[in-house]
Amino acid sequence: MSIKLGVLISGSGTNLQAIIDRIADGTIDASIELVVSSRSDAYGLLRAQAAGIQTLTMDKSFYDEDFTADRIIASEMRSRGVDYILMAGYMRMVHDPLLAAFPNRIVNIHPALLPSFKGAHGIQDAYNYGVKVTGVTVHFADNRYDCGPIIAQRALAVQEGWTVDELEAEIHKIEHVLYPEVVGLLAAGRVHVCDNGTVEIAPA
Ligand code: GRF
Repeated sequence: MSIKLGVLISGSGTNLQAIIDRIADGTIDASIELVVSSRSDAYGLLRAQAAGIQTLTMDKSFYDEDFTADRIIASEMRSRGVDYILMAGYMRMVHDPLLAAFPNRIVNIHPALLPSFKGAHGIQDAYNYGVKVTGVTVHFADNRYDCGPIIAQRALAVQEGWTVDELEAEIHKIEHVLYPEVVGLLAAGRVHVCDNGTVEIAPA
């Protein structure tokens, strides 16, 4: 089954690019209908445009409160028949107008093993704490920051002597594999949220 995606970004968009590439090479049966950026200078907007994807900028200066932005985003996504919304480096919370329009259909990627190291500096915080294992989490979003049912996680052993930049590079490598994999699971209809808030992945 081919699914329609919307992607929310704020920055460089390397995760967006990884998904664009896996769609282009036929690994994922999906299309990206719209990329929304919370910043007009996000490099990811150029990546989307280069791939022929429609873009929309919802810069803070365009609206008076977050709920207004999320109402507009919900309506733009719905009018394009979007099945799932992917947050990919999106530095805003999603609010009720969007969550209610896409229940358990908004996905986020976080560069640490949730519930540890939530927030905007997950890689640096894990590094500073001195953890020996960290990783990447892909989860459904809810109205709390970096919470919601976990779909997939991948662990990474932190090597002795790594700088935080080296750790970051390894985390991004994992992200660029794991996020497309999860989109593939969504496209295959294999991701089910249980009543207790956990996620089951159906066998292939
Ligand atoms: C990624 O590390 C993601 O986990 C975090 O923000 C970063 C976005 O990178 N939420 P990019 O914009 O996809 O390059």
